[in-house]
Amino acid sequence: MKIDQRPPALDFAASVVAWQRVHGRHDLPWQRDREPYRVWISEVMLQQTQVTAVLPYYERFLARFPDVATLAAAPLDDVLRLWSGLGYYARARNLHRAAREVMRVHGGVFPRTARALEALPGIGRSTAAAIAALAFGERAAILDGNVKRVLARCFGVEGWPGTPAVQARLWELAESLAPAREIETYTQGLMDLGAMVCTRTRPGCEACPVQEACVARRTGRVERFPSPRPARATPVRKASWLVVRHRGTVALEKRPTSGVWGGLWSLPELVAGKPEAGCEERFGVPPATVRRLPLLEHGFTHFRLVVRPVLCELAPQARRPRRKNMRWLSLDKAIDHAVPAPVRRLLLSIAGDRRMKAS
Ligand code: ADE
Repeated sequence: MKIDQRPPALDFAASVVAWQRVHGRHDLPWQRDREPYRVWISEVMLQQTQVTAVLPYYERFLARFPDVATLAAAPLDDVLRLWSGLGYYARARNLHRAAREVMRVHGGVFPRTARALEALPGIGRSTAAAIAALAFGERAAILDGNVKRVLARCFGVEGWPGTPAVQARLWELAESLAPAREIETYTQGLMDLGAMVCTRTRPGCEACPVQEACVARRTGRVERFPSPRPARATPVRKASWLVVRHRGTVALEKRPTSGVWGGLWSLPELVAGKPEAGCEERFGVPPATVRRLPLLEHGFTHFRLVVRPVLCELAPQARRPRRKNMRWLSLDKAIDHAVPAPVRRLLLSIAGDRRMKAS
């Protein structure tokens, strides 16, 4: 049987509003009156922070800075001290700057529209909409992390919300769903639904007012929305390895103790520049012949190493260069030395090559 993925006709906003009235939160301190200053402080504190963590900070902050004029007149240090422990301190610095701007630019009166609020420091599109909706009843759409999850699930929005296209689709949905009436209850309802029911893990779908329409629920994929951030492509590091040969021996260098392959013996590595020049610079002798060998790759946890090995043969009559942390070994000895696996594989392939040529 094919599952019909189309949600049944649903008045999303009306369902959220009706649910908020009965099951939502009604006695949070910033809900007691809809005073814009108090709503603003609460919305900024609630960015990336849960209600339970915010409550004591909010009460202390309001007791010390009861209005925008007091906040603007206070030294920044006092504001930061009261913020101490809540984290994301740029929020406190922006709050202080915004209070001064409200005094200086707006004559101490809070801007009344989402658009004007968004011009203040630290107030983004969603926070501006929340303040405008909750304090002034403006039909403005919010879209914080919780709301993104609610909408992505209910409307089956695929893709990671961090991408501009998905973000744009979610804003479009948020704008189209916002009701002309009862925007305060609706806005609070969306927040409450995201925090109390449509949680990231183990959501309480049985208690959800839009469960019948929810695409994620209807298709059994609730925990698959919103799509997670895609894993980053592993970065690639490129290098050249010099296989410097002199009278049947090969040069190995000890790697620094810290870092990749710390303390192991490896082939001299060039990060940039031409191998011929690198060989002369490192060994004081230009190579008599140079042969590029096939690329080899090695995967580390955090990056992929792509190596171009270059065989540099020194003239037999050249003086063998001597350096600290350098050893000249026969190929067979080098293969048995404390070398990393890809170096061993490379030396083995060169040894095989030599044997084949000799035969
Ligand atoms: N998160 C952000 N704003 C909120 C609010 N006004 N009430 C509860 N949680 C919130």
